[in-house]
Amino acid sequence: MGEVDRELMKKLVSLCKRLGFVFQSGEIYGGLQSAWDYGPLGIELKKNIEGSWWDFMVRTRSNVVGMDSAIITHPDVWKSSGHLSNFHDPLVDCLKCRNRFRQDQLEGDRCPDCGGELTEPRDFGLMFRTRMGALEDDSATVYLRPETCQPIFANFRNVCTATRQRLPFGIAQIGKAFRNEITARNFVFRSREFEQMEMEFFCVPGEARQWFEYWLEQRMVWYTEKLGLNPDNLRLRPHDEGELAHYASGCTDIEYRFPFTSDGWGELEGVADRTDFDLTAHMQGSGQDLSFLDQSADGGKVVPYVIETSGGIGRTFLAVLLDAYREEEVEGRQRVVLGLHRDLAPIKAAVLPLSKKLSEQAAPIEEMLRPLFPVTFDVTGSIGKRYRRMDEAGTPFCITFDFDSLEDRSVTIRERDSLEQIRVPVDGLADRMSALMRDGW
Ligand code: GAP
Repeated sequence: MGEVDRELMKKLVSLCKRLGFVFQSGEIYGGLQSAWDYGPLGIELKKNIEGSWWDFMVRTRSNVVGMDSAIITHPDVWKSSGHLSNFHDPLVDCLKCRNRFRQDQLEGDRCPDCGGELTEPRDFGLMFRTRMGALEDDSATVYLRPETCQPIFANFRNVCTATRQRLPFGIAQIGKAFRNEITARNFVFRSREFEQMEMEFFCVPGEARQWFEYWLEQRMVWYTEKLGLNPDNLRLRPHDEGELAHYASGCTDIEYRFPFTSDGWGELEGVADRTDFDLTAHMQGSGQDLSFLDQSADGGKVVPYVIETSGGIGRTFLAVLLDAYREEEVEGRQRVVLGLHRDLAPIKAAVLPLSKKLSEQAAPIEEMLRPLFPVTFDVTGSIGKRYRRMDEAGTPFCITFDFDSLEDRSVTIRERDSLEQIRVPVDGLADRMSALMRDGW
């Protein structure tokens, strides 16, 4: 990672704290490593990303339904899925600097930080274990889910019965997942508590390849057209045979040009052909029949194949911010802008009275716009400072109420990226702003 890139991450992490996107968890007590709290702007951006995903993957499709499962899952789910026996990483410690690494990510056999000698590898269980109820024995042990997809497989029969879906169809879920990662780092990129957006698409085995290609293409459409990420910062990386997870017969990662990885790219999402691995495993583990009547073929029963799309909200959030962040000079002054897509921007418009004296007359404009979309009202500091604060927060439009507004009942709308301004009557402002939010500038 180059100096410039390290600088960029530092600036972004600082902006996130300053403006209220992301705080380190428990900061007043020294901070909990790799746990992050989303602040007032961060939660809005995160909800907008989740909402966009849910609309694109569930609401606009008749053959994908949603669910929301418990985080604490029956331990047998993880026994059947293979997590209890397979979800381990080989771990080594440096005898000199005491740092800890995943052995499979090291290039040599010495510590990458100080060159010290390393211990023999030990298995490190990645699942968070806790106890349920008052009992202290092993029968009370439960796990926080390390991925959101297994409860989807465990509920497959329930969802089929409730929704009467036919193959092919998908079940989607957004929610928290927990992994005791050995090396949690790079801000929200790798944390121990994180959120996933997963969709499991069930189809007849012969159509798995075609659906894999379809979903891979659809996921790229979401990142580029719905989130507005620059396609040059995205790439597809098919997994090598040896790299595939135990459950997958094929997997392609969607990667983003993150500035902190050694080759410049990091995983945003995986699209995988999980075959019938999971449903077969849960059939064996539970003794329940999870096969499905295949209406397309000879009427026989099949265990559906599964195409999975599995992305992380934290990583998408970070990619969106990195993609949007820019520094530029305007009229001899430096400004920082988050060029967020207007659908993602936490605040859509700021109402700014030119002077404190105009606060009372400008306030009804905020009240008028608040039912339409998130809006803020700011009177503190010079108008230039307030514009820059809104640019940094990614707010697409500023509405200035000046002394002329008292006479002509009009306000000025300023657009964040072009810096163009138009004068608009207050009477038509709500319609004009709704049109701008829908169609852009
Ligand atoms: N169900 C398949 C599955 O969970 P994964 O590649 O382990 O596959 C999917 O995780 C996505 O979840 C990743 O692409 C990443 O975006 C996100 N993710 C996984 N571990 C994460 C972590 N420790 N911190 C943040 N995001 C993580």
